[in-house]
Amino acid sequence: MIARKRDGAEHSSAEIRWLIERYTAGELPDYQMSAWAMAVFLRGMSVAETAALTQSMLASGTTLSWSDGPAVVDKHSTGGIGDKTSLIIAPLLASCGLRVPMLSGRGLGATGGTLDKLEAIPGYRTDLSLVEITRVVDQVGCVITGASAELAPADRKLYALRDVTGTVPSIPLITASIMSKKLAEGPSALVLDVKFGSGAFMKSLEKARELARSLVATGTRMGVATTALITDMNQPLGRLAGNAVEVDESLDVLRGSGPADVRELSLALAAEILVSAKSAPTLSTARSVLEKCLASGAAYERFRQMVAEQGGNLDAPRPRAAAFIIESPTAGFLAAVDAEAIGYAIIELGGGRKKLGQSIDLAVGIEMLVRVGDRIERDQPLIRVFARPPEQQETRHQLLSALTITPAAASPWPLIVERITETL
Ligand code: URA
Repeated sequence: MIARKRDGAEHSSAEIRWLIERYTAGELPDYQMSAWAMAVFLRGMSVAETAALTQSMLASGTTLSWSDGPAVVDKHSTGGIGDKTSLIIAPLLASCGLRVPMLSGRGLGATGGTLDKLEAIPGYRTDLSLVEITRVVDQVGCVITGASAELAPADRKLYALRDVTGTVPSIPLITASIMSKKLAEGPSALVLDVKFGSGAFMKSLEKARELARSLVATGTRMGVATTALITDMNQPLGRLAGNAVEVDESLDVLRGSGPADVRELSLALAAEILVSAKSAPTLSTARSVLEKCLASGAAYERFRQMVAEQGGNLDAPRPRAAAFIIESPTAGFLAAVDAEAIGYAIIELGGGRKKLGQSIDLAVGIEMLVRVGDRIERDQPLIRVFARPPEQQETRHQLLSALTITPAAASPWPLIVERITETL
């Protein structure tokens, strides 16, 4: 359904632009904007209206502009537990000759944030200025840093309002929020990892599909080659979840090893970009180019260079807390994982924030020792926990309750469930 005006007509681009301009300038009070956000939350928006909203939010701030040269591209994930593919995809695409100005965020809800993870590398700066962003991309091919306040300021203001008015879970509002920030980077190609399941923002496949279609339609309409993969978040991605531990696992993948699911998802998302940016004719050609960049160490080398340019020291030890193991109280099959509960357990350990601005413990986290579908013996190790102090009964209880072990065999979702594209 679409939020109509009283006469039933859609809102024009000019009307939406007026609303966003006045709100960003502080000339429209929060109570009126809240009423509008609730109307959109309840009634929806058309594709044209969503694109107009995205355009207006994008125009509320600066956009990065790039000199002639290799395609500027990016990946965005709607977030999940153990989702570390940004750390792999940015240097991987740079090693294939593309430019990747990846502006990332901090932990949100139960999910970790790319910036928090990278700050586990001693010295790594996540507050680069626009001039520094351009310089690092020109020198290395990629940057991963925080979004500066100059980009899409309307989103900052509207998101804070949505957060306190129950209007965050609205497909058009999420679409405009995500796409205005990503399009401000000035990309010509974008891939979206839209996750569904217990550890994702979208719990159902249907909702994830709706969001993916809206994101792809909006990106395409705005002239950016956009595709999306709908991917499984019914268990953590990879083995390790936390901050420093996720950097370690990303480095494993960049060095050509690491868990199969992290490697596979990184390659699949990066392949979408190579094709959208016209750097490869097909997904399978793209994959073999990407596999070579991993195998040769070129992607790992880009990561090292990016870290160095951003002030970090990859050779300095990263913090890792002492570990304890949680064993299975019963035999059976791992049928389900409440990935969100695992994310909240990591936050309880200090690995994420309960309050805005809180400092976090980069050394804590978990390692999943089993996957959905595995046969489990009684007393078999299920999860390794990195905690300070190491043995914590509450965490043991929280994490055990996040796992469902049943007598009957169970099978996991495929990692990549669907691919969403649109041709105008
Ligand atoms: N992430 C965003 O950036 N915006 C939203 O509205 C929801 C998730």
